Amino acid sequence: MENFIAYNPTILHFGRDVLKDLGSVVASYGKRVLFVYGKGSIKETGLYETVISQLEKEKLRIYEYSGIRPNPVIEDVDSASALGKLKDIDCIVAVGGGSVIDSAKAISIGTPAFHSAWDFFTGKAKPKEAIPVIAVLTLAATGTEMNKFAVIQNNRSKNKIGYGHDLMYPKHSFLDPQYTVSVPQNYTSFGITDLIAHALENYFGKGEASLPDRFVYSIVHEAINYGPELLTDLSNVELRGKIMYAATMALNGLTMHGRTYGDWGVHGIGHVLSVLYDVPHGASLSIAYPAWIRLMSDRIPERITELGKEIFGADSPEDTAKKLEAFFSKTESPVRLSQVGIDNSKHQLIRDTLSKNKVSGMNHQLSEADYDKLLELMSV
Ligand code: NZQ
Ligand code: ZN
Repeated sequence: MENFIAYNPTILHFGRDVLKDLGSVVASYGKRVLFVYGKGSIKETGLYETVISQLEKEKLRIYEYSGIRPNPVIEDVDSASALGKLKDIDCIVAVGGGSVIDSAKAISIGTPAFHSAWDFFTGKAKPKEAIPVIAVLTLAATGTEMNKFAVIQNNRSKNKIGYGHDLMYPKHSFLDPQYTVSVPQNYTSFGITDLIAHALENYFGKGEASLPDRFVYSIVHEAINYGPELLTDLSNVELRGKIMYAATMALNGLTMHGRTYGDWGVHGIGHVLSVLYDVPHGASLSIAYPAWIRLMSDRIPERITELGKEIFGADSPEDTAKKLEAFFSKTESPVRLSQVGIDNSKHQLIRDTLSKNKVSGMNHQLSEADYDKLLELMSV
């Protein structure tokens, strides 16, 4: 097992009706609030009114920034940061899925800065301070509610980059599974894929850690046991809660302890598909993961088989890839590029972007020849 530091300061409020405490928690960070949300789902579900009434109850000044899109972009982060600076905000309330909460984290370091928040993502600048973020999660998937990472897209440089800093943990996150029942079938499925992918990225990281391996198996078991059931019963709050908790635990540190780092090569491939063709994050991963496992099958056969055996009773790397792919297909998450409208004519651009962005795993390196093989495996 590798040395590690366990640190996670986010206070999690989990369960039915936890939002009753939102207003008083936000008020403890000050009076001037930037309320960040997406394209409108929170208005359809009534969550918008609930949040506003919690903030008004405490007589807070509310400034809204809405319209954050899936695969969030740096332009929104910078515009919202400018608004935050202008209004001299004390805290940010982020209500939505990973895209909204990631944007809020980037805004939290962008607001006190005097340059684009993109400079943090490219390593040109380091944050010195951050505006506190209080998150209300509406979609179980990314784990952003209890980690320090944000993933932001730059359409000009054709790059989607993840960045993390200890200042970026949400101070509080409110997770009421009742607010996830409106997530449609496809995004529910992509969320299940994403949480499995997070557990696996950590599993394939550097270093041996038997207890985190078991955490990975347990988290993936939750997803494969309850995910398909949830997809046939989308309004089941109990099942929504199980998936929500599993998604939070998949990427809050638990599965990372005892390893130097995770791999994250599959996420790198997925981000290229998202930045080029706006493929939803989880959908990009269900296409890339089986291909990556096949690519790695003769490099790390024992590790892959161990995973496959524990999760699916698989007996070889190919059997593991097959069973993982069959699970994704069963949940209607795509497993081939053609299923998200990407035909062969687009392969060269994907290939070039993988190369330009130097996409690789942190533990298992990807070569130029691997890009060709991966494209083939994601297509056949
Ligand atoms: O914009 P609105 O109207 O809110 O609609 C959203 C959006 O269209 C909708 N939605 C969210 N909650 C809903 C709902 N619809 C109905 N009812 C609800 N309760 O769902 C759509 C997708 O939302 P989005 O936030 O994009 O999805 P997700 O939570 O999967 O987040 C994906 C983003 O997170 C990043 C991804 O790269 C991607 O950009 N990730 C962040 C990570 C992190 N910070 O640790 C790690 C992940 O690996 C991932 O990279
Ligand atoms: Zn992910």
